[in-house]
Amino acid sequence: MADRVCPPWVGYLLLNPLRKLLENPEKLLGQFVQQGMTVLEPGCGMGYFTLPLARMVGAGGRVVAVEIQPKMLSVLSRRAQKAGLSERIELREGKTDSLCVEDLSAQVDFATALHVVHEVPDQVSFFTEIWNALKPGGKLFVVEPKHHVTQEEIEQSVAVAEKTGFELEAAVTKGGGRRALLTKR
Ligand SMILES: C[S@@+](CC[C@H](N)C(=O)[O-])C[C@H]1O[C@@H](n2cnc3c(N)ncnc32)[C@H](O)[C@@H]1O
Repeated sequence: MADRVCPPWVGYLLLNPLRKLLENPEKLLGQFVQQGMTVLEPGCGMGYFTLPLARMVGAGGRVVAVEIQPKMLSVLSRRAQKAGLSERIELREGKTDSLCVEDLSAQVDFATALHVVHEVPDQVSFFTEIWNALKPGGKLFVVEPKHHVTQEEIEQSVAVAEKTGFELEAAVTKGGGRRALLTKR
């Protein structure tokens, strides 16, 4: 839901290095990302996952990071520059009802939706745009926060994704996980 959009002050909290104990970007995403890939990351916030993703794709890859809040993008831009990763990260300002990625049609190897789906008011459009951007066989990894997304809610989101053409490859429910790996067949 749009009224659930996380404010910039929460964006700063999400950069807390202690988060790595619970959600280590390399452990979570390393299995899906290889050097040279194009990765789409809608709802990047201030880039907790963006910088590690940029390291994983290497100098020959790129991460397209989409955000609706300019403040998130400006902080991420500074962090990317400081880390020397700006050239691999393309920052895009999206709209609440559009990721503005029409130009990426069938160019993306891997997409993430990390703690963002519950904030999106039109999930049909969200998943459709990601589906269009992915190459055939490309994967979308969805992670939702278990403290404010129920198992039923993530199942509903997965059902929406399946209606837009995704196939559910794996759902993680063990230990209260809210994760789904979806494939564009
Ligand atoms: C809870 S934060 C998570 C940020 C980051 N993925 C992380 O895990 O640290 C969700 C982010 O998604 C963004 N967002 C919400 N709706 C969006 C949409 N429709 N398109 C793109 N970004 C969106 C919000 O502005 C916010 O920065």
